[in-house]
Parts: sequence; structure tokens; C-alpha cells
Amino acid sequence: MFDELAFKNWASSTELFPKEFCRKLAQECQRLHAQGVFHKASIGRGATKTTHAEIRGDLTLWIDKNSATPLQHDLLFSLNTLLERLNQSFYLGLKRFEIHFALYPPGAGYDKHLDNHRGSGERKITFILYLNEHWQKGHGGELSLYQPDHEDILISQIEPRLGTVMLFRSDLFPHQVEKSNQPRLSITGWFRDDAS
Ligand code: OGA
Ligand code: MN
Repeated sequence: MFDELAFKNWASSTELFPKEFCRKLAQECQRLHAQGVFHKASIGRGATKTTHAEIRGDLTLWIDKNSATPLQHDLLFSLNTLLERLNQSFYLGLKRFEIHFALYPPGAGYDKHLDNHRGSGERKITFILYLNEHWQKGHGGELSLYQPDHEDILISQIEPRLGTVMLFRSDLFPHQVEKSNQPRLSITGWFRDDAS
């Protein structure tokens, strides 16, 4: 996956995390969502930060190392290893990452966007781990990836199946989450080059 990432600036893989581990993360995501601790996702930052369910309809819960469950600690550990691996391959100077659970209720999607907040570039690599064991065509919620500088040209559509990991350069690729017809679970994060 790393050669592919270096070559294309994006790559997907099903080899990074064992299925059983992903299944446990999916269960944890469902359990926490049922507890009502997820929040409506916002767009923009600071004074322009707002929620617009018609643009972005997911609910999120940030994973924080200070309150992480043992399972979340395992994930954070794996992502530290991934950060080091990315730095060895790409000299990106990645220093940290931030991740959250995301749940798209039926009918929700996320319109085409870039992940770098406008006017700042600390998010270097986007990471997504999909957690939908029984995903089938027709469930929707595919990730559509568009060409840098040609946001009408579709490069690929990634199915959000349990265990699929997607990595891409956060500043390059316009992307969109197609409307999901089923609850759609994932963990999304960004590797950053600023210190916390
Ligand atoms: C995001 C995003 C894509 C996905 O949260 O910024 O684009 O496939 N997610 O979940
Ligand atoms: Mn995004």
C-alpha cells in the first residue's frame, strides 16, 4: 500500500487490520452511539464552525488517549506505528494524528470537499477505516474520490466494507460520501505535521 500511496497519493488496503479487531471496533462504535455520546459533525472552524446536516450528516465521537478504552488504545498504538511507517516512506514530518468514530445515519452523506481546512495545512494524510460487516451494493455510502484540480473527474469509488483502509493526501483530493441507505460506521482521522 505504501508504494501505491507514494505513486498515486492515495491507496486502499484490506491488509492493515485483522477482521476480528475491526469487528470489535464496529461493536464499540455501535455501543457508544447507543449511549448517545456522538455529536453532530461540524464544518469549518472557529467563528465559521457550523453544523449543516444537508452538507455533512454524520455523527462523530473523538477518540482521546486519556479516556481511551483498551481497544481504542490498541488502535492508537497501531496508528502510531503507521505514522512512523509513513514518515519513513515519505519524509512528511508527521507528528501526531487525530481520529474519531463516525456514524452516518440512513439518508446521510457528505458533499464534495477537501480535508484541509481553508487557510491552513496541518492535515497531511487522511485515514479512514471502514467498519461495515454486511455492506452490500445498494447500501450506498461509497467514498467517491476525484482528481486533484479536476473535481469533476471521478478516480475511484471505495466501498465502506469492514477492514478496508483508505489513505490519501488531505490537501489534494476532492472527495464525497455518497448518501448511505444504512447506518454507515467508520473511523476517520488525519495525520498532522504540527505539534499538539
Ligand atoms: C471526512 C470524510 C470520508 C469517508 O470525514 O472528512 O470525507 O469515507 N470521510 O468516511
Ligand atoms: Mn473528508
